[in-house]
Amino acid sequence: MHTIETQKDLKIFLDPLRDSKSIGLVPTMGALHQGHLALVKKALTENDQVVVSIFVNPTQFDNLEDLKKYPNTLEADKNLLRGVSEDIVIFAPSVTEMYPDKTEAKVYDFDGLDQVMEGAHRDGHFDGVGTIVEHLLRLVMPDKAYFGEKDFQQLQIIKKLVSQQELPIEIIGCPIVREANGLAMSSRNSRLSKEMRQEASHIYNTLQTAKKEFGTKNVLSITEWVKSQFDPKAGFDLEYVTIVDTENLLEVEDIKPERKYRIFIAVYVEGVRLIDNIALN
Ligand code: PAJ
Repeated sequence: MHTIETQKDLKIFLDPLRDSKSIGLVPTMGALHQGHLALVKKALTENDQVVVSIFVNPTQFDNLEDLKKYPNTLEADKNLLRGVSEDIVIFAPSVTEMYPDKTEAKVYDFDGLDQVMEGAHRDGHFDGVGTIVEHLLRLVMPDKAYFGEKDFQQLQIIKKLVSQQELPIEIIGCPIVREANGLAMSSRNSRLSKEMRQEASHIYNTLQTAKKEFGTKNVLSITEWVKSQFDPKAGFDLEYVTIVDTENLLEVEDIKPERKYRIFIAVYVEGVRLIDNIALN
């Protein structure tokens, strides 16, 4: 396993392989956990060469504090990846390598997909994500790139990006990996106290109860019920909960049997912003 730090060296490594080998890309910001590793393992079964990028992308943070607090655990990440396969190539560039001129995002129009949920609450977030992911996709030019449903909105936006830019890359979505208590794995979970990390199973449990009601109760009463389950006094500060159509991410009122729906939630626990989502049908 080796680590490459420059775009030039990555090209020198990948170009001779292109004719004979398929390439899979797993973009990450490091602080790796089993959720990331599930993407890497899937990529390894479907490609001859897997590239894992580790880059904390400054342009997707709307909050400087959040960027500063983002864990940097490159050595531990390398060890985790080594445990999965020695054949992985890690691409871990510096900020100036990826943003040589100015640390600024491109502006995209993702047909409204970026205007709701995370996009509505994190200013410029998806322009930052689009900028770095487009850059990585064009650089690596993989056959397939892997993204988690943990960030379902991001996954849909990357699919849109690839189709808008006509990139010949297949985007593969992977299911959410959860801790034993149901909490969606996230690099941010380590910032929770032991007690609240356990208590945070409440988020997934509530989504599952909402799922049971879906189809019998109307959507508005389900989201109102979910809201009532989150009490700031108990340490759960709900930012949003919404039930949307998975294609256009628009909030739904009337359910159509042929469409697919998911419920999405963002909650602050001990100042840590946690997100989750599950399929409803
Ligand atoms: P990061 O948060 O490091 O996540 C990297 C990838 O791992 C994303 O596709 C994310 O959805 C997936 N992932 C994270 N936790 C997961 C879990 N519990 N189960 C399944 N998949 C999970 O997402 C980003 O980085 C960045 O926005 C990036 C795409 C790298 C662009 O900077």
